[in-house]
This record gives sequence, C-alpha cells and structure tokens, in this order.
Amino acid sequence: MNEHDSERIAGLLMADGLTPTEDLDQAGVVVFNTCAIRENAENRLYGNLGHLKPLKDRNPALRIVVAGCLAQKDQGAIQARAPWVDVVVGTHALPQLLDLLATAERDGPQMDVSESTEVFPSALPAARHDDFRAWVSIAPGCDNACTFCIVPLVRGPQRSRAIGDIVAEVQGLARRGVIEITLLGQNVNTYGRDVTVPGSSSRPLFADLLRVVGAIEGIRRVRFTSPHPHDFTPDVIDAMAETSSVCEHIHFPLQSGSDRVLKAMQRSYRRDRYLGWLERIRAAIPGIAVSTDIIVGFPTETEDDFQATLDVVERAGFDSAYTFQYSPRPGTRAAGFVEQVPKEVVQERFDRLLVLQERISLDRARAQVGHAFEVLVEGAGKRGPSVQARTRTNRIVHVPDELDPGTFAWTRITGAAAHYLTGELVPAPDVITV
Ligand code: 5AD
Ligand code: SF4
Repeated sequence: MNEHDSERIAGLLMADGLTPTEDLDQAGVVVFNTCAIRENAENRLYGNLGHLKPLKDRNPALRIVVAGCLAQKDQGAIQARAPWVDVVVGTHALPQLLDLLATAERDGPQMDVSESTEVFPSALPAARHDDFRAWVSIAPGCDNACTFCIVPLVRGPQRSRAIGDIVAEVQGLARRGVIEITLLGQNVNTYGRDVTVPGSSSRPLFADLLRVVGAIEGIRRVRFTSPHPHDFTPDVIDAMAETSSVCEHIHFPLQSGSDRVLKAMQRSYRRDRYLGWLERIRAAIPGIAVSTDIIVGFPTETEDDFQATLDVVERAGFDSAYTFQYSPRPGTRAAGFVEQVPKEVVQERFDRLLVLQERISLDRARAQVGHAFEVLVEGAGKRGPSVQARTRTNRIVHVPDELDPGTFAWTRITGAAAHYLTGELVPAPDVITV
C-alpha cells in the first residue's frame, strides 16, 4: 500500500513539472513516505530527517515532506522534533499535497492529517515503477483490531471502492500495456462489505471481483494481498482455480501457530482452521505457492506457544515467510500488556524460526529443479548479462540471457537457493487444443 501511495506522490509531483532525481543535492523536493508498522521504520525516519538538516541549512529552498502512516500517527510531533520539515501530509490527505507545498512556499510549514477524504488515492496520477505492473487498491483501511497492529489507527476503517471504478482502472491500465496487477487491501476478503452493486442491494464479493478483473483483456497475471484466514471463503478458492489469469500464489498471514496467542492477538481463527484452509487451497490449485507473515515474541508468548508456531510452520511448509519481532506500537492494545517478552528471548526465538524456515524454503525451491515455468521478465540481473524474472508462483528466477522487462519467456529450473532459482530458456510448451 505504501508503494502504491509512493507512486501517487511521484505522479502528483511529476504532473506539477518536477522530474525525479537520485541526487539529493539536485532535489527541490524530498518526500519521505513513511511506515509505522514497527518501531525501526520510525527510528529510520528521524535518522534520515537529521541527515537532511545540514542540506536544508545550505539550501533553504529545499522542500521536505513527510507523508504516510507515521505522518498520520505523529502529526504535529514531527515538525516539533524536526522544524525543518515543510509539509506533513497524512494518509488521507494525499490529494492535498501540491496545495500544501504551494502554501508552505508562501506561509511556512504546513500539516494536513485530516481523518478522511472524498478522493481515493487511486484517482491520483501515478508514476509507476514499472510500466507493465501495477498496484490496484481495492479497499483502503481496515475494520479489524488485531491487538498488535497500528494500521486501523493510521489508515482508518475499510472503504471499498466501487467495483466499476476498479474495473475501469484495470481496463485503463491494460490499455496502457500493464499485464500484471496486484489487488491491494488490508483484508481483501471483506472487500465489498461497505458498498452495494449498482442497481441492486447485494454486496460485491472479493471472488466476484477476482473473476471480473481476471477476465479483462490484456491482464495476464492477477495477484492479491492479503487475505485474512478468518474471513477467507471457499468461493475465493473457486474463483482462483477457475480464473486462468489469477496466479498460483497466496500470501496467507499466520502471525502465530498458538491458539492462545492468536486469541490474545484478536485473530479469530485457530491453527486447525488455518491448516484446513491451506489443505483445501492446495487441493484445488495444484502447485500453488504459499507465503506468510509471522510475529515472534508477542506479549505473553511462552516457549510452548513458540513451539506451536514452529510446529505449524513445519506442517504448513511455506515457500517463504516474512518473520517479524514483535514491536509495541503506541495506541494498540498489546502495547499495554504487562507481560512483554524480553528482547533476548525474542531474538533467540526469531533466530530459531529463521533457521527452520530457511530450510523449508530451500527444500521447496529445490523441488522446482527440472521443471519448466513461464516467467515474466522484471529487469536486469545483478551479475553479468542476465535478467531477473518471476514465476506465476512468485518465485524469482535468474536467467543468464538478455531479455526485455515486461516480456514472457519459458525457463527450465537448473538451480535453487532459499530465496531464488536459476533457470535456462526453453521453448514454450506446445499448446494442445481440443
Ligand atoms: N510488530 C511486529 N510485526 C507487526 N506486524 C504488524 N504489526 C506488527 C507489530 N506491532 C506484521 C504482521 C503483518 C505484517 C504486515 O507486519 O505480521 O502481517
Ligand atoms: Fe492490522 Fe489485523 Fe487489519 Fe491486518 S487485519 S491491517 S494485521 S488490524
């Protein structure tokens, strides 16, 4: 979501006549689009702002903007701590960015952290990182209240976009050459809860959206993030299995393998239900890759709870996992729990989880060797003449050839590491028509 918003920030500034630069000394405007999900992101912002102070002293015409979740969370505290920041723009106020910059020019530091806006950021011009892939926001905000999570506080309640608007956006993207889209929501399964289908009183479902968007001409790959195991429904599995453009990959956040911890997290599924979903998903979509998010050291987590997480990780056989050390966030319920887990215990558990998951990731990657997959070329490789490409299952493949980004190729996998594969080009398999 943050990248989606960054592309809008860049789009607005470029529409206003600015051009991007990698060179800080050349920059007229510097924007930090911030994340508040863990404390280290927060520390980095204040570190970076400190580094900019001498530059601003030398060049008072430089405009410094802090946008995003941390802007929403810290509000006036940012300019109190770093008075050389010109504009603080919260998650809902992005459409106001250019006005705020213009006013700051005239009247000094500005801030807009208003709680809601009529305009979805999706409606703003975007300067996308790639011209063949795009993020598509379907429902900003979140109605859940996971006790560790700051997102509902900084992004507000879920607001589903009208299905027609989403379809129109994707059609427009396809016309401009986009072939892969990623539908974005904090909890994509509750998409549509707060809107109705035009001309009817029924609510659009995420499965409907997948089918409609997946049928748009020119869109070859559809991804989405993230479903929530609590709100997951079988019709989503059917829509995934029956829509050929929907990729064989699901990001399915586990957070913890202990039922007791899940309850304390206010995540209202349990480990058996989670594993049951995985079984059904894998049975319906052969070869699907599964990734997850796991938090280690949630307050009250005991060694037994942690063992339960290791056990679920072993059983689930994730292709990859984003693992996080619990970080208390102000305003969340869990930050007030008295039984915080000591830092060294969290670190030690985190290291054990990483060792286990690396082994599983490597096993799953090795199982791909010898098989052929369609890949989408993303860009130049790091070493020698090569490219980085991606399978439908979201695995990175390094191919020792020069191919244009945004093109498809077929590769046979020749090597595997925990986080990437290597492959060689092979002819596309014959398509058998009956
Ligand atoms: N501490 C650590 N990890 C967190 N996440 C969300 N909030 C926290 C927190 N306070 C993780 C969750 C979520 C992912 C995006 O970030 O695993 O799924
Ligand atoms: Fe945070 Fe839970 Fe909402 Fe995800 S579902 S954004 S973890 S509150």
